[in-house]
Amino acid sequence: MRKPKVFRMIFALSLGCFMMVVFYFNAMKPESVVEESSSVKSRRSPLQTLYDGDQVESAVQGIHHGRRELLEQTCHSYTHKRRVLIPQDLKHIIVDDQHGLLYCYVPKVACTNWKRVLMVLTGAAGSITDPLAIPANEAHVPGNLRTLSEYSTSEINQRLRSYLKFIFVREPFERLVSAYRNKFTRSYNTAFHKRYGTKIVRRHRPDPQPEALERGDDVSFEEFVYYLVDPATQQEEPFNEHWERVHSLCHPCLIHYDVVGKYETLEQDSSYVLQLAGVKEKVSFPTSSKSTRTTGDMAASFFQNISPFYQKKLYNLYRMDFLLFNYSIPAYLKFR
Ligand SMILES: *[C@@H]1O[C@H](CO)[C@@H](O)[C@H](O)[C@H]1NC(C)=O
Repeated sequence: MRKPKVFRMIFALSLGCFMMVVFYFNAMKPESVVEESSSVKSRRSPLQTLYDGDQVESAVQGIHHGRRELLEQTCHSYTHKRRVLIPQDLKHIIVDDQHGLLYCYVPKVACTNWKRVLMVLTGAAGSITDPLAIPANEAHVPGNLRTLSEYSTSEINQRLRSYLKFIFVREPFERLVSAYRNKFTRSYNTAFHKRYGTKIVRRHRPDPQPEALERGDDVSFEEFVYYLVDPATQQEEPFNEHWERVHSLCHPCLIHYDVVGKYETLEQDSSYVLQLAGVKEKVSFPTSSKSTRTTGDMAASFFQNISPFYQKKLYNLYRMDFLLFNYSIPAYLKFR
């Protein structure tokens, strides 16, 4: 008769402890919830700010309105079958829950600087407030920022509905030449030389030297183009993100982007996003004056060696990016 009594006492005691823990957490909880909701309520979300109907449309708003409409119309006329989004599609979308932002990053379009800015905004950078104080490699560490693919379905849908979704794009061939220059002409990018360069030399150079086969560090732009337009390349695996099309990275016909920023007007468009987010005083987008930047003239010189036949093939590969974001066929191309 004694034993059950002891057990009952232990049971009652541990139940009491458990209740205390629960009460403790409950007592903690409302405080943080109240704090959060009051700070959100005190201002409109970036999305509300963008679509606020009371305002007269400014010139900047007009430009972005035009880009959205063109994107939507182009999607409408070129995509016939709509499919459902899966989490895999959302791996390039970075989430800022504090400010209600979703940013789809496109490599070679100032994505390092946008990641730095978002690290400051989400608190991932700790006490750092100057984006440029964050080392570039730090901005690309996968765990530092959360992507939309990491959330549950209902969390994803809620964010897609209520957050400001933005993207930055660039003239497709300038982006491509920039990727080529960065990954294949810089001696330090040995990982790319090994992973892609050796394969490109093996498949697309008629009589490769053993050393070139081994190192893969002297891929010409021409060979890079052969690699891109070869159907076998994409049958094997998706393109690397540095040369993958924006259309495939960010799914602009399935996700309705609210702001389409352009590399060509990076400063204005970045400051527009930061203004909508209400953080212009908090953080400024780094202005870079890099002299090594790939320009249209530079792209033209790289395309000089490409025959009209391959120019056309390459254009067809990147055609949706040209059409969706209102880039015209470059004047230096010779296939017309
Ligand atoms: C598309 O590009 C043309 C030529 O650069 C420009 O005049 C036009 O305003 C652009 N349209 C939109 C919707 O951005």
